[in-house]
Amino acid sequence: MAHKLASTQPSWKKLEQLYQSKGKAFNLSKAFSADPKRFEEYSRQWSGKTTDASLLVDFSKNLIDDEIFSTLLSLAKEAEVEKQRDEMFEGKPINTSEGRSVLHIALRDLSDDFKPPVEGVDEVKPELAHMKKFSDAVRSGEWKGYTGKPIKSIVNIGIGGSDLGPVMVTEALKPYAKRDLAAHFVSNIDGTHMAEALRQCDPETTLFIVASKTFTTQETITNATTARDWFLKAAGDKSHVAKHFVALSTNVKAATEFGIAKENMFKFWDWVGGRYSLWSAIGLSICLVVGYDNFEQLLKGAHDMDVHYKTAPLEQNIPVILALLGIWYTDFVGCQTHMLLPYDQYMARFADYFQQGDMESNGKTITKNGERVDYETGPVISGQAGTNGQHAFYQEIHQGSRIIPCDFLAPVQSHNPLGPHHDILISNFLAQPEALAFGKSEDEVKKELSASDQSNTFLVKSKVFGGNRPTNSIMFPKLTPAVLGALIAMYEHKIATQGFVWSINSFDQMGVELGKVLAKKILPLLQSGDVSKVDGAGHDSSTSGLTRYYLQHRAA
Ligand code: F6P
Repeated sequence: MAHKLASTQPSWKKLEQLYQSKGKAFNLSKAFSADPKRFEEYSRQWSGKTTDASLLVDFSKNLIDDEIFSTLLSLAKEAEVEKQRDEMFEGKPINTSEGRSVLHIALRDLSDDFKPPVEGVDEVKPELAHMKKFSDAVRSGEWKGYTGKPIKSIVNIGIGGSDLGPVMVTEALKPYAKRDLAAHFVSNIDGTHMAEALRQCDPETTLFIVASKTFTTQETITNATTARDWFLKAAGDKSHVAKHFVALSTNVKAATEFGIAKENMFKFWDWVGGRYSLWSAIGLSICLVVGYDNFEQLLKGAHDMDVHYKTAPLEQNIPVILALLGIWYTDFVGCQTHMLLPYDQYMARFADYFQQGDMESNGKTITKNGERVDYETGPVISGQAGTNGQHAFYQEIHQGSRIIPCDFLAPVQSHNPLGPHHDILISNFLAQPEALAFGKSEDEVKKELSASDQSNTFLVKSKVFGGNRPTNSIMFPKLTPAVLGALIAMYEHKIATQGFVWSINSFDQMGVELGKVLAKKILPLLQSGDVSKVDGAGHDSSTSGLTRYYLQHRAA
């Protein structure tokens, strides 16, 4: 397909004009007063067909009216979002730079009728059965370590997509966790990360899960080697490795070379992107922590959302709506960031997860045609659990010089209904978007001040909230595995839709390569310990100066 620059679409030009004519001065107070049905018009309720997943998505507090919204929908039509989405579901190689299909959706479609003609799709179910069998055996205590004791700790060794998904999901689904199975996640090459995890583990009762799509990632292989050395120091005999190390990878050959037994390998396929891999064998640590049945609910909730994304008309399609709102802010309003703010402590790692999900997907400037975009693409993603964020960075969201669009997320029911806590939490979840949208005028501020303070212009102006700060509010009944699956899939499809409109390939990550290559060049210089070699090593004066400093001070 054509993959035109988004800025050449007729609706793009119209959106530019609409921003000038009304978007710039959009007033949410006026919009709500003028239309008592604004909430009904700009919110969508969704329920999964096969699970308890359901959502209320309120996007009424955005800087849009009917004309802006319908022009955004026209942009999606012109960019052939539906066609590109369908190509993804059909298994077409839409990851064009690597010539790969993008089929994480196949990992969560457990029906027998979904068969895109792509190698490996048939193996999804047998691999899930393998994960179930293994996780059941470990959780029940049937799987024994080399001294006959059951497993008490698991250590997932992986980084990026081979870490963030399992970390985020196991934290989010803690209420479903087997509490007497400790789960550690080691990702960083910094030896501190592994050392601190190992301090809490006993080699006789620890299972290491080496999670790496490529099985070549420097951090993961180094960490796994350190873990194996630590284990063998206690266990002695190499044959014991089979009871304590499993691998999750597409690279069976490299995992075998590492010493992992064939029956302890859980495979997946090159059409599963790293940042979309928690649904694959990479989810083994999730199965171990919350049990296979809950993992399956996670998959099914995501699949319910896939069906919605695939079938709902654009104006009802939640991921598409969220994507278009993001494009409005990024490309027309001039925003650079997007905050994810879950009012659920269990979702504390949600924003971290989608930092990779979004920024590794859409942090790109070259279209699928090889042209440089002449517009902005993926935003900077940040956020943390409410209400902690309120006491940290919300000042800037309310009164800073930039507009920072935010998604607020919250469950209706808490897993821990403790006294007044949940109502207080939700009162904050409701109040923040209200404050951001409607602000506080100078007159309102003055009414609250004493007569002498009213004449203090600095004080008065400092207390004014401009309002018109856009937010989405997303509510769900309770954070169950299926709800979480649906939420993750919703954001995945939002990100994909933005990539479709921007004509970029959201499914590769070439931008992470250069730094890795240079680190490999620098390492031998550090290992030689020879300061005299620094100058001739071909680095710039800054890199050389830093290297020299490191070598000179290292011994001390
Ligand atoms: O840093 C880039 C990246 O390739 C991510 O996309 C990926 O999730 C991560 O590294 C880990 O890769 P692997 O699973 O192959 O070890």
